[in-house]
Amino acid sequence: MAKKIIITIDGWSSCGKSTLAKRLAKELGYIYVDSGAMYRAITLYFLRNNIDIEDKKEVKQALKSISLEFVFNPNSQHSEMYLNGENIEYVIRDLIIAEKVSDVAAIKEVREFAVAQQQKMGDKKGIVMDGRDIGTVVFPKAELKIFMTADNAVRVERRFKELFQKNPNVTIEEVKNNLEMRDYIDSNREVSPLKKAKDALELDNTNLTEEQQFKKAMEWVRARKS
Ligand code: DC
Repeated sequence: MAKKIIITIDGWSSCGKSTLAKRLAKELGYIYVDSGAMYRAITLYFLRNNIDIEDKKEVKQALKSISLEFVFNPNSQHSEMYLNGENIEYVIRDLIIAEKVSDVAAIKEVREFAVAQQQKMGDKKGIVMDGRDIGTVVFPKAELKIFMTADNAVRVERRFKELFQKNPNVTIEEVKNNLEMRDYIDSNREVSPLKKAKDALELDNTNLTEEQQFKKAMEWVRARKS
């Protein structure tokens, strides 16, 4: 049997991490895990239950009531995020969640809760996980680490197009502010800030098509698997 590896993809918001990760997972027959969806699901739970994120005790207590699960949807051919048995894949993509998620993801207890589950998912390797701290904290020994970047303007446009399809009231200004705010919090927080792992390979996709990115990443995969 071919050697299975762990592939981590970290980078700024809206860099196309999940698009590449899904395609690699499909090609290799690996599991794809969207770690950001877990932080978004926790944020949704906190919002719905009015959890005061400044209150550590309340946060710890709330985490005990959260069960996260990825369930494969044969129609979309992707795993979707479930919170306490409810499919929340669609609602967590909303700007309301995006506005709060970076603050929630900066909480130490929240990260410990999510990282422990993420590490378990990689037990058997054969996994592609994207996020912000996957190559640095979750799987520091991963065989292939990719760090994705793209120009800000390109990222804003991509995210705007995605959100506009669901909500035509969204403005480019809102999307731009949200991306800048999240990048700032994600890369400046105390616990596991977004940073490029020393041994990560950088993929700047500002001027690359999805196909070109995929080809480049597959070259790296082949080199690591052999
Ligand atoms: O990838 P995303 O935009 O869905 O992630 C949502 C937020 O979750 C992002 O602003 C930062 C946080 N996050 C994180 O802190 N660590 C991860 N491994 C993944 C996401």
